[in-house]
Amino acid sequence: MTDGVVTTNTVFDPVRVGAVELANRVVMAPMTRNRANAAGVLPDSAATYYAQRASAGLIVTEGTQPSAAAKGYPGTPGIHDDVQEQAWRKIADAVHAAGGRIFCQLMHTGRIGHPSLIPEGARIVAPSAIPAQVEVARADGVMVPAVLPESLTAQGIAGIVRDFAEASVRARRAGLDGVELHAANGYLLHQFLSPGTNRRRDEYGGSAQRRARFVVEVAEAVAAEIGAGRMGIRISPGGQFNDMQDKGNEDTYLALADGLAALRPAYLHTLRRRSSPLHRELRNRWPTAYMLNTGYLGASELADVSPLITSGAADLVSVGRLFISNPDLVRRWRHGVPRAQWDEDTFYRGGDRGYIDYPFACEGTDMR
Ligand SMILES: Cc1cc2nc3c(=O)[nH]c(=O)nc-3n(C[C@H](O)[C@H](O)[C@H](O)COP(=O)(O)O)c2cc1C
Repeated sequence: MTDGVVTTNTVFDPVRVGAVELANRVVMAPMTRNRANAAGVLPDSAATYYAQRASAGLIVTEGTQPSAAAKGYPGTPGIHDDVQEQAWRKIADAVHAAGGRIFCQLMHTGRIGHPSLIPEGARIVAPSAIPAQVEVARADGVMVPAVLPESLTAQGIAGIVRDFAEASVRARRAGLDGVELHAANGYLLHQFLSPGTNRRRDEYGGSAQRRARFVVEVAEAVAAEIGAGRMGIRISPGGQFNDMQDKGNEDTYLALADGLAALRPAYLHTLRRRSSPLHRELRNRWPTAYMLNTGYLGASELADVSPLITSGAADLVSVGRLFISNPDLVRRWRHGVPRAQWDEDTFYRGGDRGYIDYPFACEGTDMR
């Protein structure tokens, strides 16, 4: 038994995570679907989409910008104004009516953004002025080389910390169960953690503790507003996505885990390709629920994720693409119903197609 988590050892068993009771340990991983309008407002179909997937123990939403300046892709939603908040309320209500739980993933894309996506006068920012060697999306969807970001000032950092805290307040006001801080996959929080993107010489760079400081400050500010039991953090140690050079950065992740541990967040959510001593050490040190995502190598099938729970490597597992094409994934797994294959062409576009039209295998039955 991990402190705060009642362990019962199969993916189908309920678990308490922070302040939230989950019906099972299968989490729908955060997935950007680009269905919001230019104002960052999700359509009503998003409520249908998420409610269809409410048999997940927990849904983590698509990456969502905590401010207009944090946006890095066309069609991602925001949670920084009243109209956006109303759309989230419909989603939270629909998921709860279907018996589910939902956390909003807060994502600031940092240097993985484009000026055409953010308000006039706002800047593309990062810990240090180092451009990513990748293409980024313009507002019109055309891919272009990433721009040179501006190094954040202390004042800029404080403003972003405030934006995350205010967005978390909106998330709760909209009825969402909590938030997940996106500190993975090469976006702003990850950019602070990694020495390849963080060359700062002030209190936010230069040592493991200092690189971890920004993420810890964001977490502290969010926890002060909504309670740490309603906040998770996602990390991808060693991840190379979005031109990250994060290998050999183990000390920063241990410093981060230590810096966050005192808060007792609801969970730590780690993206992991292969197990390593760092992963085992994070699991051992982390005081509350530990979530793993071992995807991308293929589908995250029941046979892949189940041993993570039974062996005690994790308390929760998150699954991405299978949830896109199988809204009733947990029921399919429980009853051995074959899984449908996803269609990559509709991941990031397609309106309702590839979004809310994947069939339920169990419709009209009492299969739970
Ligand atoms: C369409 C799509 C969008 C994604 N968007 C996000 C995102 O917004 N935030 C995030 O943390 N990860 C995102 N991911 C990564 C997933 O959360 C997950 O880690 C990945 O899909 C691997 O799991 P899987 O093999 O079960 O799909 C995305 C993945 C996909 C396929």
